[in-house]
Amino acid sequence: MWFPTKDMMISLAILLLVLLTPCSSSYWNTQNKIKTAIHYSPGIELGPGSVSNRIYYDIEFPRGHVALKGVTAEVVDEAGNPVPLHQTYLHHWGLFRYYESKSKLLTDTRYDPHRVLHMSHSSSNSHILVRNSGICQGIILGQYYGIGSETRGTNTDIPDPFGLEIGNPAEVPEGYEEKWYLNIHAIDTRGVEDKLGCTECRCDLYNVTMDEYGIPLSPSYEGGLNCCYDQTQCRLKKGFQAPKRTLYLRYTVKWIDWNDNVVPVKIYVLDVTDTLKISDTSNIESSDHNCLVEYKVDPCNSESKKDNECLHVKRTRLPMQKGGYVVYGVAHQHSGGIGSTLYGQDGRVICTSMPNYGSGDEAGNESGYIVGMSTCYPKPGSVKIFDGEKLTLESNYSRSTRSHTGVMGIFYLLVAEQLPDEHCG
Ligand SMILES: *[C@@H]1O[C@H](CO)[C@@H](O)[C@H](O)[C@H]1NC(C)=O
Ligand SMILES: *[C@@H]1O[C@H](CO)[C@@H](O)[C@H](O)[C@H]1NC(C)=O
Ligand SMILES: *[C@@H]1O[C@H](CO)[C@@H](O)[C@H](O)[C@H]1NC(C)=O
Repeated sequence: MWFPTKDMMISLAILLLVLLTPCSSSYWNTQNKIKTAIHYSPGIELGPGSVSNRIYYDIEFPRGHVALKGVTAEVVDEAGNPVPLHQTYLHHWGLFRYYESKSKLLTDTRYDPHRVLHMSHSSSNSHILVRNSGICQGIILGQYYGIGSETRGTNTDIPDPFGLEIGNPAEVPEGYEEKWYLNIHAIDTRGVEDKLGCTECRCDLYNVTMDEYGIPLSPSYEGGLNCCYDQTQCRLKKGFQAPKRTLYLRYTVKWIDWNDNVVPVKIYVLDVTDTLKISDTSNIESSDHNCLVEYKVDPCNSESKKDNECLHVKRTRLPMQKGGYVVYGVAHQHSGGIGSTLYGQDGRVICTSMPNYGSGDEAGNESGYIVGMSTCYPKPGSVKIFDGEKLTLESNYSRSTRSHTGVMGIFYLLVAEQLPDEHCG
């Protein structure tokens, strides 16, 4: 007769345990658990040619310890109808996470566009920015979510079993609360003389010679964010009139409650204008980076046209101190952009993201605008970035008869430091 020994019983018990732990199931998914909430930003008042670039603190966002699965957004009018980009150009929106002191609450709640500049990302201020995992300096490009005109047509879903962990009470400093702020930069181009010029923030069209803080701009600065700050005005066609209107950013957040099956991902936002100020890349600090966010694409004259040189390629090499497995990648470009690729140190392609231009009139398909960017969802484990690997970011634009000002070459990367099986093992 066969009697199981005590040892065998224990092994059996362990085996059963392993089989029964949810982690061991490769079929774990969140299909039925995803929660969705649709929120509206405060009203954005815009008249023809006007610009709104504001920060809205303490916006509605999931509270508690959760894993974000995606955030999408679009500009809508008071009736909730999508507003096309040729009427209101969504230059960018950004969603930022911060801790607010419960005791040092600001008594002055008036809108102050400069307030964000006082937000620290380290010290014991009333507000502490919780920036993404890198890699620009200070609070620059520290957002969790947000892009621009391509928002409607760009997938942001984080595949199972991955998620972006937020609201972990163990991480919130004593006496602080986790909150979110939203920055929305919108340009009303109804009736303007030059729609592309207004969206590229060309200084002459805005009649701007000094930046938002009154500092004179260099004559060689043709355009960019310094010329289309809050309440600036782009030149209208003679006699054009249209009423002011109130618009909203409608944003949809998807999340699940945090649980041990979720494999955390980190967000990196890379910028093609970033140059490292140091040569020793073994111990890089955030302050060694110099992300400028925007750049200029020079015009293409008839001579360069002959030589087929109307392509503008910008590259930068960026060391990643910590690597991991790529879960998602997407680029952000402006009109004129024709694609962006992130390469590994050995030249392998980590992700290529291509713009999709609209060809019609309706919201989501506006001709001449980037209405979506293609995304990368590599099979988990198949694309790995090594610790210390120097990546190359490449952003291509087509040059036209005049310069493109204020263009961007930004790359979002979601990286998991562990794979699902490692995470559970
Ligand atoms: C442009 O700005 C200058 C100086 O601020 C001002 O004198 C001029 O009237 C402005 N022109 C237009 C068209 O608004
Ligand atoms: C960008 O241009 C370079 C140089 O011509 C080319 O090798 C690369 O494939 C282009 N990338 C994209 C995404 O078009
Ligand atoms: C965009 O509009 C054009 C012109 O009306 C149409 O041919 C095309 O199918 C539309 N694209 C999408 C994705 O709806």
